[in-house]
Amino acid sequence: MDPYGTEPILQVDDLVKRFPVQLGVVFKRTVGHVRAVDGVSFDLRRGETLGIVGESGCGKSTLAQVLMRLEPPTSGRVRFHGEDVFAKRGRSLQALRRSI
Ligand SMILES: Nc1ncnc2c1ncn2[C@@H]1O[C@H](COP(=O)(O)OP(=O)(O)O)[C@@H](O)[C@H]1O
Ligand SMILES: [Mg+2]
Repeated sequence: MDPYGTEPILQVDDLVKRFPVQLGVVFKRTVGHVRAVDGVSFDLRRGETLGIVGESGCGKSTLAQVLMRLEPPTSGRVRFHGEDVFAKRGRSLQALRRSI
């Protein structure tokens, strides 16, 4: 219980997202990875506003997509209202996407 809202609403801990760089059409091989999100951590509390600022291609959209479970993470932990975002399935996942 957290009746006074002192716990962070969103807790992001060492979040990493890499995209494979693949060559070939039929026989694809992975030749490297784009480090789109590389160890992002922050807390967001009630009443706070967080701006994510950076040059094009620095990972802002990918960060948001991973937080919404539109892209799977490579590693890291995210809690929304204390619940593990990456453990959610089905209806619980749909509800998360609506509210986050
Ligand atoms: N689906 C994807 N597959 C491969 N690389 C991607 C994909 N989405 C984004 N990237 C790469 O990840 C990096 C971060 O992109 P992005 O999150 O869109 O940045 P921003 O929103 O800050 O402009 C870029 O190098 C981009 O090319
Ligand atoms: Mg973007």
